[in-house]
Amino acid sequence: MTPIRVMIVDDLQNTREDIRRLLHFEEDIQVVAEAGDGIEAVSTAREVRPDVILMDINMPNLDGIGATEQITLDVAESAVIIISIQGEQDYLRKAMAAGAGEYLVKPFSSNELSDTIRRVNEAHKKRSNLLYNLKVEDHTPAEKPQSQIITMFSTKGGVGKTTLATNLAVYLAAEQKKKVAIVDFDLISGDIAILLNISIKSTVADLVLESETFDFTLVNSFLVPHMSGAFLLPAPLTPEQAELVHAQQVEQILEILKESFDYVIIDTAPAYNDINLKVLELSDLILLVLNQDLTTLRHTKTALDILKTFNYMSKARLILNQYGKGGLKLTDIEKALKLSMTAIVPEDNNTVKNSINKGTPFVISQRQGQMTTAIKDMTYKLGLSVEEVKETAVNNSVFTKLLFKKRSTSLGS
Ligand SMILES: Nc1ncnc2c1ncn2[C@@H]1O[C@H](COP(=O)(O)OP(=O)(O)O)[C@@H](O)[C@H]1O
Ligand SMILES: [Mg+2]
Repeated sequence: MTPIRVMIVDDLQNTREDIRRLLHFEEDIQVVAEAGDGIEAVSTAREVRPDVILMDINMPNLDGIGATEQITLDVAESAVIIISIQGEQDYLRKAMAAGAGEYLVKPFSSNELSDTIRRVNEAHKKRSNLLYNLKVEDHTPAEKPQSQIITMFSTKGGVGKTTLATNLAVYLAAEQKKKVAIVDFDLISGDIAILLNISIKSTVADLVLESETFDFTLVNSFLVPHMSGAFLLPAPLTPEQAELVHAQQVEQILEILKESFDYVIIDTAPAYNDINLKVLELSDLILLVLNQDLTTLRHTKTALDILKTFNYMSKARLILNQYGKGGLKLTDIEKALKLSMTAIVPEDNNTVKNSINKGTPFVISQRQGQMTTAIKDMTYKLGLSVEEVKETAVNNSVFTKLLFKKRSTSLGS
């Protein structure tokens, strides 16, 4: 099940944090954005397109009623729950008229909040489906689930893009029996073939030399099978060969792969180059990988700004890798980026080094290990699998346990 993506709108940061805390342990609910006033709420909702928006009424600039009115027009897929204090009945009526799906009066408990979110989300989705079916009439939607292009991105090297791309792809192929292609678009220093212990004769550079236009048979003949069932399109062997590959060919290759695979997982070079910009444009999910340090934080902030400019925020997700090795606090990173982590992968030097030395991804060699659990949890949080993971290494961390204690607290007015 895909988690319900929630946005919190309130001018008081403390209130936003309280609400975030109340929802922290609801595995099926994920806070994906925050806004501090109505105007910010409307623009963030347009970008992030959350499932449910928790909306305060009294706010500077544009109040919650005005914001709700605009959001229900512009972002029809988002349901709005108004959060009010006692005595705002008159406002509440206006809010419901503006299109809010429900309201909650403070104080409320964690359970009341999460139950309301689930209920409103379900009702809203049902209504949207009904409307959609009415609109499309006889045109039944395609039966085949959409295939997805999933890209690991960060302009900082060494954050774990390649490690995560490889293991995610192999996990989806081996454990979920999906048709998966891994594309190594780190053209100058791609090393997925090494991580997979695959010996290669030809690469994407040979493919682009072969013909001006591609079809599946041609692209397929350059894919190298891995024992997991995934197929690799390897990176060029030399920097000179890397220069042969251009954005327009990248587009052709990806369109062909998307036709035939459930998932196309792309590893990228740490740069804003033509290839990466094309890849980001064509991606369905952009996984921004980061660590707990100031440099990656700065790189990620810039990346988010750029994704915003291109209007790609709805497909961006944050993945914190090597969690636990110290450095910045998770909450501080999320605050600075104004976005929550979608998934967290712990630091585990032994597992990762062993798997590189053996040329076997850890999702195969350590199927029960914490790293595989983290990848499995990531597929769930990204909506790629339905099986929820209860016991991740990160859930068991001291940090999470501390927060757990606060879970039963309820919101004051
Ligand atoms: N979760 C992790 N725990 C421990 N080491 C990791 C983890 N993720 C990556 N590494 C190590 O960090 C280094 C950089 O990872 P890599 O995937 O090559 O990053 P990138 O592709 O972003 O440059 C590698 O040596 C890799 O083995
Ligand atoms: Mg890499």
